[in-house]
Amino acid sequence: MLRRPRRNRKSEVVRELVVETRLSKNDLIFPLFMVDGEHIKQEVASMPGIFRFSVDNLLEEINECMQLGIKTFCLFPAFEERLKDKYASVSSDPYNFYLRAIEKIKKEIPEACIMTDVAMDPYSSDGHDGLVENGEILNDETLEILAQMSLAQAKVGADILGPSDMMDGRIEYIREMLDDEGFSKVSIMSYTAKYASAFYGPFRDALDSAPKAGDKKTYQMNPANVKEALIEAELDEMEGADMLMVKPALSYLDVIKELSEVSNLPIAAYNVSGEYAMIKAADQKGWLDGEKTMLEVLLSIRRAGAKIILTYFAKEYAQLGL
Ligand code: PBG
Repeated sequence: MLRRPRRNRKSEVVRELVVETRLSKNDLIFPLFMVDGEHIKQEVASMPGIFRFSVDNLLEEINECMQLGIKTFCLFPAFEERLKDKYASVSSDPYNFYLRAIEKIKKEIPEACIMTDVAMDPYSSDGHDGLVENGEILNDETLEILAQMSLAQAKVGADILGPSDMMDGRIEYIREMLDDEGFSKVSIMSYTAKYASAFYGPFRDALDSAPKAGDKKTYQMNPANVKEALIEAELDEMEGADMLMVKPALSYLDVIKELSEVSNLPIAAYNVSGEYAMIKAADQKGWLDGEKTMLEVLLSIRRAGAKIILTYFAKEYAQLGL
């Protein structure tokens, strides 16, 4: 036998020499859930180890993560039902707790890189990402609401905006609004290929943001399609996105791979709530080694071609000190 691939696996040192993919905490973004109030730190039932924080406790959490080397945070608000309406009006109210919290975080921890979520669902009485009229999600009427929300987030210091709504044309609409208002430095990470997925279940529990009627299939993508993701990527590039995201990650590694091959923009992948919950549940039952599974999963997302990973495991990964 002239060729023996096992020679390259013979020791830890040799294995390290030939390693093709590395994971680093610099690649990770930590999604965090927020609620209004004080001294709140409630665990999300379906996401062990993940909490809904009021801003005081959130500042502490961000500080701890910064010490560990996690520097980018994607913040999601849980608004009370009574504040929601059809137009998601509270989303651009400068006095809403989410915007005030972002302002406070950027003031107290300016080195923290803050990513926000742009979509109507946490603020909408319909629980949809766009404006609902007679059961239909209106595209063009939603754009102005998203752009106003984006502007409000930029004004309080958001570093990266994450439009997660999947409306057509929203990247260009938001980019133009930001540039016209003097926020040309604010980045946009587009949720480019966001699939209509069952893996978002625990997230919707965390924010109480499930749609009141219908599903999200007229705007989020069909899990069967990959060419369509290439069209979305092409449009987002033309419309001025700085980074492209695929979501969820694990059932869509092929989509990550395809996008990373056709686009020169950095590709991100969102290792979503359900993907986190599955590993935690199996670990708690003693059916899987949670830590090893986490490492393998994160590595697989990098190997598929994602440079950036949004993951609820970010802090836990950093705590391993690898
Ligand atoms: C909503 C949004 C969702 C997630 C991020 N932004 C849920 C949805 O589209 O219903 C899911 C994230 C996760 O599951 O971790 N705009």
